[in-house]
Amino acid sequence: MSRAAVVAGIGSCLPPRAVSNAELSARLDTTDEWIRTRTGIARRWHSDAGMATSDLAVGAGANALKSANESIVDTVIVATTTPDRPCPGTAPLVASKLGMTGAAAFDVGAVCTGFLYGLATGAGLIATGSADRVLVIGAETFSSILDPADRSTSVIFGDGAGAVVLRAGEASEDGAIGHCDLGSDGAGQDLITVRAGGSAQRLSGVAPEPGDAYFAMAGKEVFWRAVQRMAESCRGVLNVTGTRIDEIDWLVGHQANQRILDRLADDLGVPRDRCVTNLAEVGNTAAASIPLALDHAHVAGTLRAGDRVLLTAFGGGLTWGSTVLTWPALKRG
Ligand code: COA
Repeated sequence: MSRAAVVAGIGSCLPPRAVSNAELSARLDTTDEWIRTRTGIARRWHSDAGMATSDLAVGAGANALKSANESIVDTVIVATTTPDRPCPGTAPLVASKLGMTGAAAFDVGAVCTGFLYGLATGAGLIATGSADRVLVIGAETFSSILDPADRSTSVIFGDGAGAVVLRAGEASEDGAIGHCDLGSDGAGQDLITVRAGGSAQRLSGVAPEPGDAYFAMAGKEVFWRAVQRMAESCRGVLNVTGTRIDEIDWLVGHQANQRILDRLADDLGVPRDRCVTNLAEVGNTAAASIPLALDHAHVAGTLRAGDRVLLTAFGGGLTWGSTVLTWPALKRG
C-alpha cells in the first residue's frame, strides 16, 4: 500500500456578471459570429468593482470543502495569474477568510497550467506526509488585466475559480493523484505576458508603455504550441502510467479555444464527444479553467465515478502539464 493524495471534494465559483459576445461586439471591432466560430466562446464572466481574485477563490474553496465534508485543511494553494496584490500571496488571505488562520498557504504562478502545478505540489505534500489535507484552488480575475481595446484577448478570457480538496489515501483508490507530467520553456515568455510591474521592467530604467500593464498574447504562435505541447505531455503521462488512450473516458483540456481542443483530441485519437468542455459558457479562465470544467461536468453528471480522466493544460511561461486519474464518487459542493 502506498500513500497518495486522493480527490475528496470539488467546487467552483463564477463572478456575478455574464458578458455576452453581443456586449463585446458593441464596443470592439468584432462579431458574435467571429467569436463563436474562431474560439467557440459565447459568454465569459466578469467580476464587479470592489471584488478580487480572493473572493472567487474563497467561493470555490468553500464549495470544495463542503463537497469533501471538511471544514479545515493543512495547506491552501492558490494558482493564479491575477493575485489580489503583487505582494503578499493571495493564498494566506484565502485561508484566513475560510477560517483557517495557521494553515500553510502559498500561491503558484504557472498561468493557465497553474492548477495542474498546484495539484502536483499538493499531492506531493500529502505523499511525503507533510500534509494530510490540501485545498488546491485555481482562481482568476482576468478582467482586471485585459486591455479593453484588445479584441483578440478581450473576447477569450474571463474570471472564475475552481477548487479540489485532496486527502491522504492510497494510490489504488479512485481519485488518487499519480504521476504528473510538467514542463516549461522560458524562451517563450514574451508570447503570453504582462510586460510591466515586475522587477525586469522596474529595474530597466525605462518607463513602461501605457499598454504594458495589460495582458498580451501572440495568439497564432501560441495556438500551435498549445496543441503540440499538450499532446506530447498527454503521451508522456499515458506512457509513464501505462494507460492506453482508448482507456480514457474523458479528455479535460485547458479551455483555451474550441479549435485547440478539437485539434488536440484529433491528434491524440480521442473522439471529440469524449472531451469535457464548458468553454462556450465561461471562456478561458486560465488557472481556473480545469477545476471549473471538472466541477461543471461533475454537477452535470457527465463525469461519473470510475471514469478515467486525462487532464492537460498549456499556458504562459511557457508551461504545460498533464495527469490521469480515475474519477471518484463525490458530493456536490
Ligand atoms: N474579432 C474579429 N477579428 C479578430 C479578432 C476578433 N475578436 N481577433 C483577431 N481578429 C483578426 C486578426 O486581427 C486577424 O486579422 P488580419 O488577418 O486582418 O490581421 C484575423 O482575425 C486572424 O487573426 P489570427 O490571430 O490568425 O486569428 P486566429 O484564428 O488565430 O484566432 C485567437 C485568434 C487569439 C483566438 C487564437 O489565435 C487563439 O486562440 N490562440 C491561442 C490562445 C491560447 O491557446 N491560449 C492558451 C494559453 S492561455
